[in-house]
Amino acid sequence: MGRVVCGEPFALGEYVIAPGVEINPSIRTIQRRSDLYPQPRQFRPERFLGPDAPDTYTWVPFGGGTRRCLGASFALMELRVVMRRILERTELQPAAKDLDKVQFRAITLAPRDGVQVLQARPPVVGDQGAGARAQLTTPV
Ligand code: HEM
Repeated sequence: MGRVVCGEPFALGEYVIAPGVEINPSIRTIQRRSDLYPQPRQFRPERFLGPDAPDTYTWVPFGGGTRRCLGASFALMELRVVMRRILERTELQPAAKDLDKVQFRAITLAPRDGVQVLQARPPVVGDQGAGARAQLTTPV
């Protein structure tokens, strides 16, 4: 989501940025700000549901402005469909109490060796039964 200043110097808050300089907002730094994201290191997806949910300019995984990701709405819709399909069929719980170490995977952060999960409720479709273990990994 970097942008290069073109033409005139660009005023950004108290700074004046010269033409040719690239400006890169840091999504990671914004999301570690405890004034915007209370307990920023905790995985609390419900923080996005309440009236104090992070706003458009503090939640910027899709960039912003005129070049914002064209597929943002599609990607979010896709995520809702996939998550709904999984959660309709089964209930997953982490197998371990503590999450594995986190590492960079491309531009995102992910558990280093994937996450083992337990099926607390048998799947409606399929035949793995309660207590089965599944290894959820994301291809690098
Ligand atoms: C979770 C999924 C996705 C994430 C996190 C993501 C993130 C981004 C980001 C950060 C940008 C740069 C925005 C900027 O410069 O301000 C971008 C641009 C773009 N994305 Fe995505 N994207 C996702 C999915 C998709 C999908 C599914 C499509 C297409 C179906 C898509 C199509 C595009 C296009 C065409 C651009 C370039 C827009 C432009 O330069 O005008 N993205 N995306």
